[in-house]
Amino acid sequence: MTNTAQNPELRLHLNWRCDRHAPYGDRQRAVIDHTTRQKARDTISAWPGYQPTPMLELPDLAQKLGIARLRIKHESRRFTLKSFKALGGAYGVMRILERETGLGIDAIMAGDAKEQVAGVTVCCATDGNHGRAVAWGAQLAGARCVIYLHEHVSQGREDAIAAYGADIARIDGTYDDSVRQAAEDAETNGWIVVSDTSWPGYEEIPAWVKQGYTVCMGEAMEQLGDDRPSHLFVQAGVGGLACAAIGPVWEDWGAERPFCAVVEPHEADCLYQSAVQGHMANGLGSLDTVMACLSAGEASPLAWAILETGADAFITIDDHFSPDAMKTLAVSQTDPRMVVGESGCAGLAGLMAVAADPLAREAMGLGGDADVLLIASEGATDPAIYQEIVGMTPDEVGETQ
Ligand SMILES: Cc1ncc(COP(=O)(O)O)c(C=O)c1O
Repeated sequence: MTNTAQNPELRLHLNWRCDRHAPYGDRQRAVIDHTTRQKARDTISAWPGYQPTPMLELPDLAQKLGIARLRIKHESRRFTLKSFKALGGAYGVMRILERETGLGIDAIMAGDAKEQVAGVTVCCATDGNHGRAVAWGAQLAGARCVIYLHEHVSQGREDAIAAYGADIARIDGTYDDSVRQAAEDAETNGWIVVSDTSWPGYEEIPAWVKQGYTVCMGEAMEQLGDDRPSHLFVQAGVGGLACAAIGPVWEDWGAERPFCAVVEPHEADCLYQSAVQGHMANGLGSLDTVMACLSAGEASPLAWAILETGADAFITIDDHFSPDAMKTLAVSQTDPRMVVGESGCAGLAGLMAVAADPLAREAMGLGGDADVLLIASEGATDPAIYQEIVGMTPDEVGETQ
């Protein structure tokens, strides 16, 4: 079912390719499996400052949305980076250094190969959070890092990246221009590109990035225990977070996994279009969205390997749902108050859009007994934008600890 006509604020595509009884197969395991998830978990949990992020319960909002239960995994306290992206970019850097030096990550972190590590330069293009993670990982290990920013990346995001010691290269033009420039400079200078998306012939590093992200869902699955949710709404840009959330529940829980919905902005709909067209396709939107970190025109093929048959539904939403979701979490009286950024809120925004649409609710089986899990994938990663949207600073919101 693709209901593009009934409600201009929400598009829903039920994924007929998703057979919930199909086993988690070789195509999916090549991206994420038990072994690679465990290696990421063992590595990342040994980094300084590691703590699982909390999972919060929001009974009041659940009631307002007409569902039984709502739990949100809150990534705003992920190390000092305020987003789940810390897990992927930094882990990608460590795996590269492991490959380049022939030493284990423990030894690299212990400073056993300082000179060799300092001779490696990693680089990437970014809208913000991924570059911050790569810069942080390089700083932790002692490697050099150059981050490429296109002209629309805010000053706040640039400052946050520079604070982790990266050299910044500002590029006139779009995100794609910054990707091209990073690739060209890497080729010329012998640097290594750490991308969060894959393309044919460049898969090892983006697979590591996605394996790093799985730590978030790994923690969530432990926090849920036997209380498994009926639905998972997860936001997507190129699909890395979504595949790292859906892959593990598919691998471990099989047909017992929740109904998994991938949420994108209307204007950045590459996964939705891929699902509708039955093959990887470019998005049809303008890429102009308040959910800036989800602004991807093309999906990651590695993510698609899991989402193509692992996601139950693909939805796209109008931009207004994201600020609505941010404010809802910021002003809550009885539920925990949460500071969540514009892209981090997209899962809740998708849930709010579906909850308000009886047809979509029915199609997705989102009844009064639904038990929903969301990932608030970032905090206020750009505090100025957060304040502009919510009308309060993160401190004024006073997040519940
Ligand atoms: C906060 C936040 N949430 C979600 C995403 C989407 O992740 P992906 O592009 O892997 O789908 C991003 C991507 O940068 C992000 O920064």
